[in-house]
Amino acid sequence: MPHEALFEPYLLGSLRLANRIVMAPLTRSRSSEEGVVPLYAAEYYRQRATAGLIIAEATNISAQGRGYAKTPGIWSQAQVEAWKPVTEAVHNAGGLFFLQLWHTGRISHPSLQPGGALPVAPSAIRPGGQAFTNQGLVDHETPRALRAEELPGIVEDYRRAATNARAAGFDGVEIHSANNYLLEQFLRDSTNQRTDNYGGSIENRLRFPLQAVHAVVEGFGDANRVGIRISPGTTMPGSTPLDSTPNQTYGAYVDGLARLGLVYLHVIEGTTQQTRNSAGVDYDALRRRFRRTYIDNNMVSLELAEQELADGKTDLVAFGRAFLANPDLVERLKTGTPIADAPKETWYGGDERGYTDWPVATAPQLQTA
Ligand SMILES: Cc1cc2nc3c(=O)[nH]c(=O)nc-3n(C[C@H](O)[C@H](O)[C@H](O)COP(=O)(O)O)c2cc1C
Repeated sequence: MPHEALFEPYLLGSLRLANRIVMAPLTRSRSSEEGVVPLYAAEYYRQRATAGLIIAEATNISAQGRGYAKTPGIWSQAQVEAWKPVTEAVHNAGGLFFLQLWHTGRISHPSLQPGGALPVAPSAIRPGGQAFTNQGLVDHETPRALRAEELPGIVEDYRRAATNARAAGFDGVEIHSANNYLLEQFLRDSTNQRTDNYGGSIENRLRFPLQAVHAVVEGFGDANRVGIRISPGTTMPGSTPLDSTPNQTYGAYVDGLARLGLVYLHVIEGTTQQTRNSAGVDYDALRRRFRRTYIDNNMVSLELAEQELADGKTDLVAFGRAFLANPDLVERLKTGTPIADAPKETWYGGDERGYTDWPVATAPQLQTA
C-alpha cells in the first residue's frame, strides 16, 4: 500500500503543517529541581522538527501541579527563559511547536509539593500505584480535597501558564486533560465525588475543566492556537476507574470545548500503551461532535494511520514512543526504514544519553541539518 496521505500538508487553524504526523507529548524528566528545562532539550526537539507538529512534554503550570521528579515548569521567569532557545531551535529547523500544560492533581507526592503538602484533588481518594519522586518510586498518599474557593486560583495558574508559553515562543498550547491528571479527575465520577457546584451532575463535573480551558484560551490569546488531549478509556496512572457514562460525560465536554473554539481534539483511543480496544467509548461520535481537527493517538501503526486518513476517521496522527529513538521518524515512515526502540531506562531521567544521541538512518539533508 503506498503511504501518501500521512505526508500531505495540513492546515491547522492558520498553521500550515508539513505533514499529518504529530509528535505526541513525551515526559523525559531531565529538568532541574526548579523545573528548568535543560539547554540540550533544544537539540532534542530540533532533531524531531520534521514532524508536522511537535507537542512538547507535559509542563507544570504551578509548583502545586508537579507530580513527577525533574519535570519542567512554565510558571517562573527562569522557566520561560529556558524554553526560549528550545522554541527557537524548533522554529529555525522549520518546525511547529505546542507546549502541553499540566497539573497532576492527586498523581503526585508530598515530596514534590511546596512545603511537603499533600497533593490536591477534587476528592480525597487515594490513587493506586506509586509516584515517581526524587527518592525513586513511592506509594501515593491520600490527596487533600480542594476547597471550592481554591479553584479560581488554579484557573489563574492555567491562564498564566498559557501567557508564559506564548512569551516563551510556543506556537500554541495543548491542555493536558488526559491520563487521569487534575482535569480528568474532575470529569470522572470515579475520582470526583464532590457535592458542591463542581461535582455530581455532568454539568457540574465539567465546570472546573471548562473554566481552566477558557482561561488558557484567554491567556494564550487565540483559541486557534489551543488544543486539548483527552483519554476517556485510560485507567492509568493511579488505577483510575473509567467514568460510569463516558460517552455522555466526554460528549458534553467535547461540546463545551467546541463552543470555546479549540483548534484540535487529541484523543488517546483505548488504554494508553496497552490496547486500542474502545471499551464502549464511541470515538467517532466524539470526533463528529467536536467538528474541528481530530488527532488520533495510541499504538497507531503506519498501516492504521494511512487507513484512518483514507477513511476520513482522523485528520492527524500522533506517535509517541516511536519518536524516542527515531529523530527522523518522518523519513523512516516515508522510506520504510526500520523503527528503533528506546530502552525503558532511557525514557525518564538522566542526561543527553538516550535522548539526543539517537542516530539518523535516512535522508542526507537531515544529516547535514
Ligand atoms: C516516555 C513517555 C512519556 C510520556 N509522557 C507523556 C506526557 O508528558 N504527556 C502525555 O499526555 N502523554 C505522555 N505519554 C503518552 C504518549 O504521549 C502516548 O499517548 C502513548 O505513548 C501512546 O502512544 P504511542 O503508542 O504512539 O507511544 C508518554 C509516554 C511515554 C512512553
